[in-house]
Amino acid sequence: MKIGVTGTPGTGKTTFSKELSRRLGLKYVNIEDIIINENLHMGYDETRGSYILDIDRAYRKMLEISEPNTVYEGLSIAYLADEEWLDKIIILRCNPYVLEKRLAEKGFSPEKIRENVASEILDVIPSEVYSRFDRRKTIQIDNSNDLEKSVDKAIRFIKGEEVDNDHVDWLGLVTERNDIRRFLD
Ligand SMILES: Nc1ncnc2c1ncn2[C@@H]1O[C@H](COP(=O)(O)OP(=O)(O)O)[C@@H](O)[C@H]1O
Ligand SMILES: [Mg+2]
Repeated sequence: MKIGVTGTPGTGKTTFSKELSRRLGLKYVNIEDIIINENLHMGYDETRGSYILDIDRAYRKMLEISEPNTVYEGLSIAYLADEEWLDKIIILRCNPYVLEKRLAEKGFSPEKIRENVASEILDVIPSEVYSRFDRRKTIQIDNSNDLEKSVDKAIRFIKGEEVDNDHVDWLGLVTERNDIRRFLD
């Protein structure tokens, strides 16, 4: 089983993936580390504050290093994953108000916080994943609070149980609280 874990920065990918791999006895691989170490990017975008992924080269590398019984973690999975490489994808979600705090604690700039929180509200990562991956082989988990609960749900999904997506509607939430302009202007 090759499992991908993706999500907006701060949704908890690293924490969650290490725990998932520990509990299932699977290998843990961070894709972003490989992309940076092997120069699978087209340089650093100073204005965006991130590396520009070289999708073709990175994808070929992923197939080359691909091995069973591994949890692959990274934002880039949303842009690279297909069913030739991965069997299942877990998409972590996080409440925008919680995400804003987590990213501030990580030391992200106000611009990076805005960009990532907006992306989370607008479902950018799930849309990317669904463009190349059978939705039935994916699960969205709300990882705003209880890590153990998130990991339990992922394990049930990986074992083939019928598990529903956590219902998240961040756009509805921020609309209700009159915060659309604060997050999306
Ligand atoms: N389920 C959770 N509940 C509360 N805090 C969490 C949870 N998962 C992760 N965190 C915290 O959120 C922050 C971001 O987590 P991290 O794993 O670094 O996210 P990512 O790898 O997606 O950027 C960390 O401070 C981490 O301790
Ligand atoms: Mg991380």
